[in-house]
Formats: sequence, C-alpha cells, structure tokens
Amino acid sequence: MYNFEFKNPVKIIFGKDTISKVVTEIPKNAKILMTYGGGSIKQNGVYDQVKNALSEVELFEFGGIEANPHYETCMKAVEIVKSEKIDFLLSVGGGSVLDATKFIAAAALYTNGDPWDILAKNKPVKDALPIGAVLTLPATGSEMNGNSVITRVSTTEKMAFGSPKVMPQFSILDPQCVYTLPDKQIANGVVDAFVHVMEQYLTFPVNSPIQDRFAESILTTLIEEGPKVLANKKEYEAAANFMWSATVALNGLIGVGVPQDWVTHMIGHELTAFHGIDHARTLAIVLPGVMNIKRENKKDKILQYGERIWGINSGTDDEKIDAAIAKTVEFFESVGLPTKLPAYNVGEETIAKIVARFEKRPYKLGEKADIDFRQVEQILKDRL
Ligand code: NZQ
Ligand code: ZN
Repeated sequence: MYNFEFKNPVKIIFGKDTISKVVTEIPKNAKILMTYGGGSIKQNGVYDQVKNALSEVELFEFGGIEANPHYETCMKAVEIVKSEKIDFLLSVGGGSVLDATKFIAAAALYTNGDPWDILAKNKPVKDALPIGAVLTLPATGSEMNGNSVITRVSTTEKMAFGSPKVMPQFSILDPQCVYTLPDKQIANGVVDAFVHVMEQYLTFPVNSPIQDRFAESILTTLIEEGPKVLANKKEYEAAANFMWSATVALNGLIGVGVPQDWVTHMIGHELTAFHGIDHARTLAIVLPGVMNIKRENKKDKILQYGERIWGINSGTDDEKIDAAIAKTVEFFESVGLPTKLPAYNVGEETIAKIVARFEKRPYKLGEKADIDFRQVEQILKDRL
C-alpha cells in the first residue's frame, strides 16, 4: 500500500425526516444563499421543508442551476453573493447544484484574476465561502468530497477542480428524496457510483486488501440494491442503502493508498461537453472500452473483480476478462443505460474531435499515466 494522508471533515446527517436539522447546522446570524436547480425541490416538498426550517434566517435564493452546471450561471450567483454580502451557501439539490455551489464559493473569494482559471489552469483555491448541503440525488459523492465539475457553454468545455476548501461543512441525506427521482436518474446514480468505485479499484494490485474489500462491498451493494430501488423507489431501506453507497463510493476512503485511474471520467466529460449526454451514461459507454483496451495493464484486478463480484472462475485469463466486461455491460444495460456510442447517435466525427482535444493536452491518463490520445481513440472506437 502507498503512504497516504486522509482527512474528511464533512458532517453527515443521514436518515428519514432529517432535513429540518439544517437549522441547527447553519451559522447563527449568517446571510445565507440557498442554491437549487430547475424546480424538482418545489415539486417534492424539499424546498418547503428547508424554508420552514429556516423561517427565522436571512435567506436569499438562487434557482435555475442546470444539470451539468454552467460556469455562466455560476458567475451570476457570484454577483449576488458579492452584492448581498452573502456569507454561507446552502445547496439544495443533486450533484450539479452542489458542484455549482462549490465553484460559486471559490469564485466569490478568488482574487487572482479570472475564476475560470481554477478549472482550466488548476489555479489553487486559497479561500472559499462555507457550504452546507441538502442532497436530493445519490450519485456523485459530491456531498462528502471537495470535487466540482463545471461546463462552460461558450467553449463546450467540461472541467473539474478539487479543493478541501469547498468540502461541505455538513450534508443532510434523507433517502426519502429518492422517492421522487425519475427512473433514469436512479439508474444514472447507480452507474455513476459504480464507476467511481471502479476508477479507484480496477488498476493494479498494491497489497491493499482493506481498500479492495471496501470497494467490492460497494459494488455488490449497488448490484443488489440498485434494481430494488428501480423496482420500487419508495422502499426506504433500499433507497437508504443506495444513497449511502453513492456517498462512500467517492468520499476518499476507498481511494487512499491505492493507484487511481479516472480515464473513464476524463473521456466521459468530453462526450457530455459535445453531446450533452448524462454523465453516468458517458461512463457506461467508456468503461467497457477501457477494460478491453487496458486488459493487460489491469489484468490482475479485472480477474479479481470478475471472480469476486461476478463469480467468474473458469476459462483462460482472456476469456475471464471478456466475461467480466460482458457482465459489466449487462449490468449497465439492465438498469437502462445503453453502452455503445451509436445508441446516443455519436460516431467517428465526435471521436475525432475528442481525440484532437487530448492530443493538445501535455499529460497522459490512467493509473500508469500511459494513455495518450491514440489510446483514447482506441477506447472510443471500441464502443462504436
Ligand atoms: O434541477 P432539478 O429540477 O433539481 O432536477 C434534477 C435534475 O434534472 C433532478 N433531481 C434531483 N433530485 C431530485 C430530482 N428530481 C426528482 N426528485 C429529486 N429528489 O435530477 C436531475 C439531475 O440532477 P443532477 O444534479 O444533474 O444529477 P447528479 O447528482 O447525477 O449530478 C451530475 C453532475 O455531477 C458531476 C457530473 O459531471 C454532473 O455534472 N459529477 C460530480 C462529481 C463530484 N462532485 O465529485 C463526481 C462525478 O463523477 C460527476 O462528474
Ligand atoms: Zn462520476
């Protein structure tokens, strides 16, 4: 196992009817900006629960944050933060609202030029406004990490940044929020969480049995609980297990001391940037291609994954790897996510545009930093 340091200060408040606890978590006498998305919280009662809990608090609102949140929208919120002298941000929504809120928190206090540089040039976040979250969609793990992914519409770029400064002070997770999710968002959440685990697990062995078994337990739980939630989204226990799985998939714990990949996400972000495909769907497309093209590099872990998760223990190594890829594809498709590019009307033309972007970047991808634009092309062509 590699050396590591680990600190996760996010307070999680998990469970049924916990949203009203928001009032005990926000700082007294703070001027709060509540951020939210396209209106789901007004339909499912979450908005009213938060407003009722905070009836005594000075609360401003900023709604309309898109899925795959836009830089342009975030900057409008930054203006409000500055003009109203906001000192605490409360995100009420899914990963997109929370990611946007993280960027707003950092951009509002950024004094080193254009805040876009935080995303495009990896400029450090020295300070950020404090954030709290009421999470309404299990998927990203954003509620317990310092990551944020933002899209700039004018340049069709989707870029990420990470900083401990934007980790929420607290996140409230009421699994009852799952009850109103469209099936598509539940399936997306299951697959996003699944692939977060795979990015931190399907690399090469470094003798880290704790991390491996944490990772395998999350994968197995998602495989068992995901279909239960899809069959009956109002089954509280399944919703709760799904929600917690998504949080622990990307709160840092399973990734400590082990190599990490993230190439599936990096390629996936480009598919979203060019075609607006839902984040999780891009991952369902790309991951099987990564497993196929990187089968030698990842051999030991793919075999372990195949055996421990899917019970694959007969055949040659190549046959076992093929079977592990097939099982992964079957799982994604069984929850409703197509895994080939033509199903999303994406072809060679987009592959060429994505490959050209990676060709310009001065770094290689993957746990061994050996994936260049040529391999990105192979991975995408594998999915035609
Ligand atoms: O906008 P509203 O009206 O709220 O509707 C949302 C949105 O249309 C709806 N929704 C959310 N909670 C609901 C609900 N509808 C009914 N009932 C509820 N309880 O669901 C739709 C999708 O929401 P969104 O927040 O976009 O989904 P998700 O949480 O999957 O977030 C996706 C974004 O997170 C980024 C992705 O790239 C994408 O931009 N990611 C963030 C990560 C992180 N911060 O660590 C890691 C991930 O890999 C990912 O990249
Ligand atoms: Zn993801």
